[in-house]
Amino acid sequence: MPFADLLLRWYDEHARALPWRGIHNPYHTWVSETMLQQTRVETVLSYYQRFIDRFPTVEALAAAPEDEVLKLWEGLGYYRRARNLHKGAQQVVREFGGVIPADVKELMKISGIGEYTAGAIASIAFDQAVPAVDGNVIRVVSRVRGIRENVGVPSVKRRIAQEAGLLVSRDRPGDFNQAMMDLGATVCVPGTPSCERCPVAELCDACRAGDPEDIPELPRKNPPRAIDYDLCLIFNGDRVLMRQRTETMLQGLWVFPMVEEHHTLKQLPPLVKRRLGLRVTDVQPAGEAKHIFTHQVWQMRLHTMQTAAEAPAGWRFVTLEEMDGLTIPTAVKKAVAVVRDRIK
Ligand code: ADE
Repeated sequence: MPFADLLLRWYDEHARALPWRGIHNPYHTWVSETMLQQTRVETVLSYYQRFIDRFPTVEALAAAPEDEVLKLWEGLGYYRRARNLHKGAQQVVREFGGVIPADVKELMKISGIGEYTAGAIASIAFDQAVPAVDGNVIRVVSRVRGIRENVGVPSVKRRIAQEAGLLVSRDRPGDFNQAMMDLGATVCVPGTPSCERCPVAELCDACRAGDPEDIPELPRKNPPRAIDYDLCLIFNGDRVLMRQRTETMLQGLWVFPMVEEHHTLKQLPPLVKRRLGLRVTDVQPAGEAKHIFTHQVWQMRLHTMQTAAEAPAGWRFVTLEEMDGLTIPTAVKKAVAVVRDRIK
């Protein structure tokens, strides 16, 4: 039996029932595949439903303020995905008459839609026989086809995409691509795969050769950079100082004042005076927190302090109630808990 038939027969028996499956709505596929790109299925489930309930159409998303889109994304991470999805929706309304195109090349003109997402939308929502190559599919294809070169090399990656394109079912491309993802997530897993449960083992080069755990050879990743921060929770009465980030990392999200490196309690008031122009008193330690991003690890020491001054330009003193409406990165949620404790 051909590869696609074996895989689809397995999928029909084992497919997980997920809300973004069995639909032909390119907007829904765009949202779900964007969320799924760096996030586990279990996590995405509740976010997806809330997002679709609040923004049921591409027009509804395009018309929303960015802050509201970010708030619905709060906790999912990789917030650039949300900003790009929002921009993309506006672009679809403005440049495509509100109609999401079916063609991979056209799809890739839209903000936030790369090769993977374009392939996923074209195949799942429009039944086009194109591949959708994510990390799972790279693993499955490199093992099946016995591609033992480093998959970080562009020409190797292109060959894998080509091979994936040759394997795709012409009849059920959307199901086929999602079956590949499921196979990669549950059977053809990183490390040692469960070849005894694999529906395509008889067609797999790595299974025949007995070296699936050595494939794919992955590009070497740099370890994340560790950065020490002192986090300053500056209170004016029952309000605390925050700002909305403008940096690329966590852009649009709300944070507390952070200074690089760790300092003594005595060093902080003059430092805050220099950086923010604020006179602060009563500096107290308030615990530590750590957050691991893809490229950075934040090692944070928390401090509370008091001021009677106005907020400097670009900053705002916010109440607890206002804070609930802001999008705050998971990295500083522990600081939020400290603030909550102090104010209530
Ligand atoms: N990961 C990425 N896309 C997926 C999908 N459609 N179903 C399950 N896992 C996925």
